[in-house]
Amino acid sequence: MRLNLTALPGDGVGPEVTDEALRVLETIAEVFGHQFNITRKPIGGAALLASKDPLPADTLQACLGSGAVLLGAVGGPAFDNFPSHLRPESGLLRLRRELGVFANLRPALCFAGLEDCSPLRAEVVRGTDVLIVRELLGGIYFGEPRSTQGSPGNRVAIDTMRYSEAEIERIARVAFELARSRRRKVTSVDKANVLDCSRLWREVVTRAGQQYSDVKLSHMYVDAAAMALVARPADFDVVLTENMFGDILSDQAGAVVGSLGMLGSASIGGAVGLFEPVHGSAPDIAGQGIANPVGAILAAAMLLRYSFKLETEAVCVESAVGGMLAKGFRTKDLAKAGESVLSTSAMGQKVAEAVRERAKPAGQKAAS
Ligand code: IPM
Ligand code: MN
Repeated sequence: MRLNLTALPGDGVGPEVTDEALRVLETIAEVFGHQFNITRKPIGGAALLASKDPLPADTLQACLGSGAVLLGAVGGPAFDNFPSHLRPESGLLRLRRELGVFANLRPALCFAGLEDCSPLRAEVVRGTDVLIVRELLGGIYFGEPRSTQGSPGNRVAIDTMRYSEAEIERIARVAFELARSRRRKVTSVDKANVLDCSRLWREVVTRAGQQYSDVKLSHMYVDAAAMALVARPADFDVVLTENMFGDILSDQAGAVVGSLGMLGSASIGGAVGLFEPVHGSAPDIAGQGIANPVGAILAAAMLLRYSFKLETEAVCVESAVGGMLAKGFRTKDLAKAGESVLSTSAMGQKVAEAVRERAKPAGQKAAS
């Protein structure tokens, strides 16, 4: 297959981890006989510095014209005091909206051998395999009005949480459908004891669930869900939730399974899919070559699966990652005292080698 993809490395550790995800994709292309045409474009702070726009028109056009978008990360402390429309994050939010990607899938899997990397006890995290289905284009991230008014000392800031029945219904369907290919359990997370949006959410999700009688639906308040996610993470299958709750719970899920650096995500449901690691730009470690590229690599696997329908290739990447972790290869975020540590690019190379090894016909495999 010939496939076009746009790479948006962005800020902080974004370029470092994106390079490794692209390395793995190029290896996949080579061993499975595909051709990926990769166009790199600026986004976020990198684009702001170059063109005063966190999502330049040229970047957006490239994304809309390609088969999938792979993004690194956006943001950095240099932009903290910029007005909201001139922050790196606003470029990413606009991109999500322009692409129409309302469904954000964030799997958090505790890979075998990584139980000891979690701050939780190994027996608590073992077997954790959660898929957070986060609504990505609604809620308080996009609701109007929003403003800060008044004079310093007396200012008032307003954000609006807003959901329509149609927005809730379409994300609920995504969660129920995905649950059918997993353990058939959906936990819908809301704050229906306080928020109108959440009461509507619960009602619409319950109604949608009636068409999926083979899937077990339960509801939790977000505070209780946050607790349960650390107390008994392995009990969750699909977690369905709104935009901001999903943002918060997915970082938490990252720590539960060993490191936020391990999580990839797929944003789908629109014209073109967008794939990014769940972690941010991590300015504290940017440029040091120590970031964990696995989140970006797993995002690339999801790109193969959801945008290019290359399931075998996606599984190959995921099993290459699992294999490397099982062999004990660790980046700094995962390593314990005394364990040797791989750099970002060394980890990417290990995964690429494992992809190559797995893709060989059985007869050619080195005896080991
Ligand atoms: C994420 C990020 C983004 C979000 C930021 C960078 C806008 O935290 O993808 O989780 O809040 O959605
Ligand atoms: Mn986040």
